[in-house]
Amino acid sequence: MSDEAKRMAASAAVELVQDGMRLGIGTGSTADHFIHLLAQRVNAGMSISGVATSEHSAELCHRLGITLTSLDETPNLDLAVDGADEFDGALNLIKGGGGALLREKIVAGAAARFVVIADASKQVAVLGAFPLPIEIIPMARQPLSLRLADLGAAVTLRRTAGGEPFRSDENHWILDCAFGPSIMDPPSLAQTLSSLPGVVEHGLFCGMTERIFLGSGDQVTVIADGSISD
Ligand code: A5P
Repeated sequence: MSDEAKRMAASAAVELVQDGMRLGIGTGSTADHFIHLLAQRVNAGMSISGVATSEHSAELCHRLGITLTSLDETPNLDLAVDGADEFDGALNLIKGGGGALLREKIVAGAAARFVVIADASKQVAVLGAFPLPIEIIPMARQPLSLRLADLGAAVTLRRTAGGEPFRSDENHWILDCAFGPSIMDPPSLAQTLSSLPGVVEHGLFCGMTERIFLGSGDQVTVIADGSISD
Protein backbone atom coordinates (compact mmCIF):
# COMPACT_ATOMS: atom_id res chain seq x y z
CA MET A 1 0.00 0.00 0.00
CA SER A 2 1.72 3.16 -1.22
CA ASP A 3 1.07 6.58 0.26
CA GLU A 4 2.45 8.21 -2.89
CA ALA A 5 -0.01 6.20 -5.01
CA LYS A 6 -2.86 7.46 -2.83
CA ARG A 7 -1.62 11.03 -3.17
CA MET A 8 -1.38 10.67 -6.94
CA ALA A 9 -4.96 9.40 -7.14
CA ALA A 10 -6.11 12.30 -4.95
CA SER A 11 -4.28 14.83 -7.10
CA ALA A 12 -6.07 13.54 -10.22
CA ALA A 13 -9.42 14.00 -8.48
CA VAL A 14 -8.62 17.51 -7.29
CA GLU A 15 -8.16 18.48 -10.95
CA LEU A 16 -11.93 17.97 -11.36
CA VAL A 17 -12.70 20.64 -8.78
CA GLN A 18 -13.76 24.01 -10.17
CA ASP A 19 -14.46 27.34 -8.57
CA GLY A 20 -17.92 27.50 -6.98
CA MET A 21 -18.42 23.74 -6.77
CA ARG A 22 -20.40 22.04 -4.04
CA LEU A 23 -18.26 19.09 -2.96
CA GLY A 24 -18.72 15.89 -0.99
CA ILE A 25 -15.52 15.22 0.92
CA GLY A 26 -14.65 11.63 1.79
CA THR A 27 -13.00 9.86 4.69
CA GLY A 28 -9.82 7.82 5.07
CA SER A 29 -6.13 8.15 4.38
CA THR A 30 -6.62 8.66 0.61
CA ALA A 31 -9.35 11.23 1.20
CA ASP A 32 -7.01 12.99 3.66
CA HIS A 33 -4.62 13.54 0.74
CA PHE A 34 -7.51 14.97 -1.28
CA ILE A 35 -8.38 17.34 1.57
CA HIS A 36 -4.80 18.59 1.84
CA LEU A 37 -4.60 19.19 -1.93
CA LEU A 38 -8.02 20.85 -1.94
CA ALA A 39 -6.94 23.13 0.90
CA GLN A 40 -3.99 24.33 -1.19
CA ARG A 41 -6.43 25.45 -3.88
CA VAL A 42 -8.84 27.04 -1.40
CA ASN A 43 -6.02 28.91 0.29
CA ALA A 44 -4.91 30.12 -3.15
CA GLY A 45 -8.37 31.68 -3.67
CA MET A 46 -10.66 28.98 -5.01
CA SER A 47 -14.17 29.08 -3.55
CA ILE A 48 -15.95 25.80 -2.83
CA SER A 49 -18.50 24.61 -0.30
CA GLY A 50 -17.93 21.19 1.15
CA VAL A 51 -19.94 18.55 2.97
CA ALA A 52 -17.75 16.21 5.00
CA THR A 53 -18.50 12.50 5.39
CA SER A 54 -17.13 12.18 8.93
CA GLU A 55 -16.18 14.13 12.03
CA HIS A 56 -12.55 13.28 11.24
CA SER A 57 -12.72 14.84 7.77
CA ALA A 58 -14.69 17.82 9.07
CA GLU A 59 -11.99 18.53 11.65
CA LEU A 60 -9.25 18.28 9.04
CA CYS A 61 -11.17 20.64 6.72
CA HIS A 62 -11.66 23.17 9.50
CA ARG A 63 -7.99 22.99 10.43
CA LEU A 64 -6.89 23.56 6.82
CA GLY A 65 -9.34 26.39 6.10
CA ILE A 66 -11.96 24.62 3.95
CA THR A 67 -15.46 26.01 4.49
CA LEU A 68 -18.04 23.37 5.24
CA THR A 69 -21.77 23.36 4.80
CA SER A 70 -24.45 20.73 5.42
CA LEU A 71 -26.85 18.77 3.27
CA ASP A 72 -29.65 20.81 4.89
CA GLU A 73 -28.19 23.95 3.32
CA THR A 74 -26.75 22.27 0.21
CA PRO A 75 -28.72 19.14 -0.65
CA ASN A 76 -27.36 18.86 -4.19
CA LEU A 77 -23.64 18.39 -4.65
CA ASP A 78 -21.71 18.67 -7.90
CA LEU A 79 -19.03 16.13 -7.08
CA ALA A 80 -18.13 13.76 -4.25
CA VAL A 81 -14.65 12.27 -3.88
CA ASP A 82 -13.92 9.36 -1.56
CA GLY A 83 -11.70 6.34 -1.04
CA ALA A 84 -12.66 2.66 -1.06
CA ASP A 85 -11.61 -0.55 0.65
CA GLU A 86 -12.15 -2.69 -2.45
CA PHE A 87 -13.48 -2.23 -5.97
CA ASP A 88 -14.23 -4.65 -8.79
CA GLY A 89 -14.28 -4.35 -12.58
CA ALA A 90 -17.90 -3.16 -12.56
CA LEU A 91 -17.00 -0.32 -10.17
CA ASN A 92 -18.83 -1.91 -7.26
CA LEU A 93 -17.18 -0.92 -3.98
CA ILE A 94 -16.76 -2.07 -0.43
CA LYS A 95 -16.50 0.95 1.88
CA GLY A 96 -16.64 1.57 5.59
CA GLY A 97 -13.27 0.37 6.81
CA GLY A 98 -13.03 3.69 8.61
CA GLY A 99 -16.56 3.39 9.94
CA ALA A 100 -18.00 6.28 7.93
CA LEU A 101 -20.03 4.30 5.38
CA LEU A 102 -23.44 5.74 6.28
CA ARG A 103 -22.50 9.39 5.85
CA GLU A 104 -20.33 8.43 2.88
CA LYS A 105 -23.25 6.81 1.08
CA ILE A 106 -25.61 9.70 1.89
CA VAL A 107 -23.11 12.23 0.54
CA ALA A 108 -22.27 10.16 -2.56
CA GLY A 109 -25.97 9.78 -3.23
CA ALA A 110 -26.45 13.55 -3.05
CA ALA A 111 -23.76 14.18 -5.65
CA ALA A 112 -24.20 14.40 -9.41
CA ARG A 113 -20.80 12.72 -9.81
CA PHE A 114 -19.12 10.27 -7.44
CA VAL A 115 -15.43 9.68 -8.03
CA VAL A 116 -13.27 7.20 -6.13
CA ILE A 117 -9.57 7.54 -5.37
CA ALA A 118 -7.59 4.41 -4.53
CA ASP A 119 -4.26 2.67 -4.75
CA ALA A 120 -3.80 -0.65 -6.54
CA SER A 121 -4.21 -2.73 -3.38
CA LYS A 122 -7.95 -1.99 -3.53
CA GLN A 123 -8.52 -3.56 -6.97
CA VAL A 124 -9.98 -7.09 -6.84
CA ALA A 125 -11.60 -9.50 -9.28
CA VAL A 126 -14.35 -10.42 -6.82
CA LEU A 127 -15.36 -8.37 -3.78
CA GLY A 128 -15.28 -9.80 -0.27
CA ALA A 129 -11.73 -10.42 0.92
CA PHE A 130 -12.15 -7.17 2.86
CA PRO A 131 -14.83 -7.77 5.53
CA LEU A 132 -17.98 -5.92 4.53
CA PRO A 133 -18.94 -3.30 7.15
CA ILE A 134 -22.64 -3.19 7.99
CA GLU A 135 -23.95 -0.40 10.21
CA ILE A 136 -26.70 -1.59 12.52
CA ILE A 137 -29.04 -0.65 15.34
CA PRO A 138 -27.49 -2.23 18.49
CA MET A 139 -30.75 -3.98 19.46
CA ALA A 140 -30.61 -6.00 16.23
CA ARG A 141 -27.11 -7.39 16.73
CA GLN A 142 -27.95 -11.02 17.52
CA PRO A 143 -30.75 -11.66 14.99
CA LEU A 144 -28.73 -9.88 12.31
CA SER A 145 -25.62 -11.90 13.14
CA LEU A 146 -27.63 -15.10 12.58
CA ARG A 147 -29.09 -13.84 9.27
CA LEU A 148 -25.68 -12.72 8.05
CA ALA A 149 -24.12 -16.06 9.01
CA ASP A 150 -26.87 -17.76 6.97
CA LEU A 151 -25.73 -15.61 4.04
CA GLY A 152 -22.19 -16.98 4.47
CA ALA A 153 -20.47 -14.28 6.52
CA ALA A 154 -18.21 -14.64 9.52
CA VAL A 155 -19.53 -11.78 11.64
CA THR A 156 -17.54 -9.66 14.10
CA LEU A 157 -18.81 -6.71 16.09
CA ARG A 158 -16.32 -3.88 15.56
CA ARG A 159 -14.76 -2.72 18.82
CA THR A 160 -12.55 0.13 19.93
CA ALA A 161 -9.01 -0.46 21.18
CA GLY A 162 -10.50 -0.36 24.68
CA GLY A 163 -12.91 -3.22 23.88
CA GLU A 164 -16.11 -1.18 23.73
CA PRO A 165 -18.38 -1.49 20.70
CA PHE A 166 -17.22 1.02 18.07
CA ARG A 167 -19.80 3.77 17.54
CA SER A 168 -20.21 5.40 14.15
CA ASP A 169 -20.57 9.16 13.84
CA GLU A 170 -24.34 8.49 13.82
CA ASN A 171 -23.98 6.42 17.02
CA HIS A 172 -24.68 3.00 15.51
CA TRP A 173 -22.69 -0.24 15.77
CA ILE A 174 -20.82 -1.91 12.91
CA LEU A 175 -20.71 -5.61 12.07
CA ASP A 176 -17.69 -6.56 9.96
CA CYS A 177 -18.84 -9.41 7.74
CA ALA A 178 -16.14 -11.59 6.21
CA PHE A 179 -17.69 -13.26 3.16
CA GLY A 180 -14.34 -14.08 1.60
CA PRO A 181 -13.74 -13.17 -2.05
CA SER A 182 -17.08 -14.64 -3.03
CA ILE A 183 -19.49 -11.73 -3.57
CA MET A 184 -20.31 -12.69 -7.16
CA ASP A 185 -23.40 -10.46 -7.44
CA PRO A 186 -22.86 -7.33 -5.31
CA PRO A 187 -26.13 -5.58 -6.33
CA SER A 188 -28.15 -8.64 -5.33
CA LEU A 189 -26.40 -8.93 -1.94
CA ALA A 190 -26.85 -5.19 -1.45
CA GLN A 191 -30.59 -5.54 -1.97
CA THR A 192 -30.78 -8.47 0.46
CA LEU A 193 -28.83 -6.60 3.15
CA SER A 194 -30.97 -3.48 2.79
CA SER A 195 -34.08 -5.58 3.42
CA LEU A 196 -32.90 -6.88 6.82
CA PRO A 197 -34.54 -5.13 9.78
CA GLY A 198 -31.94 -3.39 11.93
CA VAL A 199 -29.51 -2.73 9.07
CA VAL A 200 -29.04 1.03 8.87
CA GLU A 201 -26.70 0.85 5.87
CA HIS A 202 -24.15 -1.48 4.37
CA GLY A 203 -20.79 -0.82 2.76
CA LEU A 204 -21.62 -2.11 -0.73
CA PHE A 205 -21.72 0.84 -3.13
CA CYS A 206 -23.18 -0.42 -6.41
CA GLY A 207 -24.02 1.66 -9.46
CA MET A 208 -22.82 4.87 -7.84
CA THR A 209 -19.26 5.35 -9.08
CA GLU A 210 -18.58 7.36 -12.22
CA ARG A 211 -14.85 6.62 -12.32
CA ILE A 212 -11.93 5.50 -10.22
CA PHE A 213 -8.57 7.22 -10.16
CA LEU A 214 -6.17 4.39 -9.43
CA GLY A 215 -2.73 5.43 -8.23
CA SER A 216 0.12 3.02 -8.83
CA GLY A 217 3.66 4.23 -8.20
CA ASP A 218 3.64 7.74 -9.64
CA GLN A 219 1.07 6.86 -12.33
CA VAL A 220 -2.70 7.31 -12.30
CA THR A 221 -5.05 5.09 -14.29
CA VAL A 222 -8.67 6.03 -14.87
CA ILE A 223 -11.19 3.22 -14.68
CA ALA A 224 -14.66 4.11 -15.92
CA ASP A 225 -17.54 2.03 -17.30
CA GLY A 226 -15.32 -1.02 -17.58
CA SER A 227 -12.71 0.84 -19.67
CA ILE A 228 -9.19 1.70 -18.54
CA SER A 229 -7.04 4.62 -19.67
CA ASP A 230 -3.92 6.46 -18.49
C1 A5P B 1 -14.15 5.04 5.46
O1 A5P B 1 -15.24 4.60 6.18
C2 A5P B 1 -13.91 4.17 4.29
O2 A5P B 1 -15.00 3.95 3.48
C3 A5P B 1 -12.74 4.68 3.48
O3 A5P B 1 -13.14 5.43 2.39
C4 A5P B 1 -11.98 3.51 3.04
O4 A5P B 1 -11.75 2.72 4.19
C5 A5P B 1 -10.67 3.87 2.36
O5 A5P B 1 -9.74 4.26 3.31
P1 A5P B 1 -8.23 4.50 2.95
O6 A5P B 1 -8.20 5.58 1.95
O7 A5P B 1 -7.61 4.89 4.26
O8 A5P B 1 -7.70 3.21 2.44
